[in-house]
Amino acid sequence: MAQPILHRPCTIGTFSLPSPAMQAGLAGYSDMAMRVVARRRGCPYAVTEALLDRVLISGGRGREKGAILCDDDHPVAGQLMGSEAHDMAAAASILLAAGFDVIDLNFACPVRKVMGRCRGGYLLSDTDQAVAIMRAVRDVVPGPLTMKLRRALDESAQAADNFDYIMQEAQRLQFAAVAVHGRTVEQKYTGLANRQFLAALKRRYPNMTLFGSGDVFTAQDALAMYQQTGLDGVWIARGAIGNPWIFSEFAALLAGRPLPAPPTIHEQREALLEHFSMAVHIYGEASASRQMRKIGIKYSKLHPQGADVWREFIAVTSHADWDAVLERHYQHDGPGVRLPSVPDAQDLFKDGCETSIADASATAAAEAHL
Ligand SMILES: Cc1cc2nc3c(=O)[nH]c(=O)nc-3n(C[C@H](O)[C@H](O)[C@H](O)COP(=O)(O)O)c2cc1C
Repeated sequence: MAQPILHRPCTIGTFSLPSPAMQAGLAGYSDMAMRVVARRRGCPYAVTEALLDRVLISGGRGREKGAILCDDDHPVAGQLMGSEAHDMAAAASILLAAGFDVIDLNFACPVRKVMGRCRGGYLLSDTDQAVAIMRAVRDVVPGPLTMKLRRALDESAQAADNFDYIMQEAQRLQFAAVAVHGRTVEQKYTGLANRQFLAALKRRYPNMTLFGSGDVFTAQDALAMYQQTGLDGVWIARGAIGNPWIFSEFAALLAGRPLPAPPTIHEQREALLEHFSMAVHIYGEASASRQMRKIGIKYSKLHPQGADVWREFIAVTSHADWDAVLERHYQHDGPGVRLPSVPDAQDLFKDGCETSIADASATAAAEAHL
């Protein structure tokens, strides 16, 4: 039997996480339904999608849906996106009052419309504004405050300096953790996340809690990032969509146990039922049925007849349609399919359909708030 991996304590302020892999913020995905399904399968901590400060302040749709929580959904970070310090501080207070345990600032989103409104990744190019936001939010958040960055705006020396300046300010303001996606904003989702950069970052900031993000599609990928970089934890983003078992698989590997068998058909059915019923609770049947298509097709990759299941999930328009897919394909138990690791999984996400779904939903989810 393999030896347990030496696993460093993983803390976010006063929260101590039993396992250092967490549900990433994912616009259009990481709602309460996805987070709770993941937590029931070993995820110790989760982040909302980026919530627009102004939507929260106006009490609009983002507040109603994106900021919905339940008792089983803690500790949880509410992630904020905006451009003005006073709005970001006001929105942080709203999230704290709504029960969020941690406030997370998004200075990472590369979506064109977000950048054009001086939010998300744009702030890596405007350090004065970034620091003004960090200070204003720090003033109103007594507990853990964290942020999400990309490794820089682009490959220029100025962009590297800007990143360091923001990191130093985060350290000075005692941010509880910083998560870094190892791509530049300019890269969007092309190329690979730079793990050497992440490892060097941890060496430069040994006393800060740092998480890595990028190209983690399986538990083995998460473990590789954890071991290669020396970071304190790993954000699991696209790899958790339709595969919440990635968290318990990672915990098993970390404990020196073998990789568990892929989830059986009945285990998959249970997760699909949970996910759908919570989505209906949040969005109502019609909207949940539409939104669950993109999630169902990700789950389908674990099914031995994945291509057929994919075709049926993509056509779902109602609760009855959803149940019919489960009835046809998930009634008889059997073994599930093992997902490929990087680099094979890279190809999986590069085929036209996958990429356009991920990109379109990231853009659509961000734009829905504008
Ligand atoms: C569809 C989509 C939506 C995303 N939305 C968010 C978000 O709201 N907040 C955030 O911090 N990151 C967001 N991200 C970035 C991910 O959290 C993660 O950093 C990135 O996907 C790299 O990890 P991966 O290659 O393992 O997926 C999003 C990514 C995708 C693909």
